[in-house]
Amino acid sequence: MDKKEFLMCPPDFFDIEYSINPWMNTQKKTSDTKTQQWMVLKEKFAELGAEVKLMKPQEGLPDMVYIDAGVIYNSVFIPSNFYHKERQGERKFFIEWFKDNGYEIEGVDKSFFFEGHGDTLWAGNKLFCGYGIRSSIEAHQEISKIIKKLGGKNIEFLPIELTDQRFYHLDTCFCPLDNSRAFFFPEAFSKKGREILRKNIELIPIEEDEAVKFACNSVVIGKNIIIPSGTHKICGKLEGLGYKTHQVEMDEFMKGGGACKCLSMPLG
Ligand code: ARG
Repeated sequence: MDKKEFLMCPPDFFDIEYSINPWMNTQKKTSDTKTQQWMVLKEKFAELGAEVKLMKPQEGLPDMVYIDAGVIYNSVFIPSNFYHKERQGERKFFIEWFKDNGYEIEGVDKSFFFEGHGDTLWAGNKLFCGYGIRSSIEAHQEISKIIKKLGGKNIEFLPIELTDQRFYHLDTCFCPLDNSRAFFFPEAFSKKGREILRKNIELIPIEEDEAVKFACNSVVIGKNIIIPSGTHKICGKLEGLGYKTHQVEMDEFMKGGGACKCLSMPLG
């Protein structure tokens, strides 16, 4: 694929109707600004030369805007199996979209809890797999078997334990920049989790004040990084490493516990 592609789902039905993570407060509903923030993000992708594909949002599934659909390996899609019943209805729409778009579907029969691209981040042939809060370690073991069976013998599966409820998905506290370097919020991981990270990728730590602004929930496209606003310290560091940072306002989506990365799933 020459052009980078991302899947997004418009925020038509997005709101805080229940609370399944510490960020969500049903008294703090979203405002109309959410559409504008989502559009700005979508346009950023176009500006950076990436293509955005869209899914149809579904009434009654307010969290579908965070497109935690599953994990992709070549043309195979392994769907999420959400931990919370509030999100379980999204699954069939994700499976349908990937089927309609030419993907083969695997792992539907499995009973593990697995939250898709929120907890699986690629860096070259390494797949960093967050577990302990939403996805289970058993899910990642199963997914590794499926991917190996599909020919991914060289893929290294790295289970990383998450311990802070505020950073319930790996993509809220860890962001690979390329195959060899990432930035992360160290306190979100168990000691063992941190050790595995350290052994496998060079790490740039961020501080808590920027971690809670979802700095790690960023999208890297080559040397460009789309990152939530108010994260000037890490942006300064990244600029020093030769990246161009693009800060976008994400406060409407932070009410639901997510930002740029959760709102866009890379399609290869
Ligand atoms: N409200 C959603 C949830 O708690 C947010 C999901 C964010 N997604 C992510 N990839 N971090 O499930």
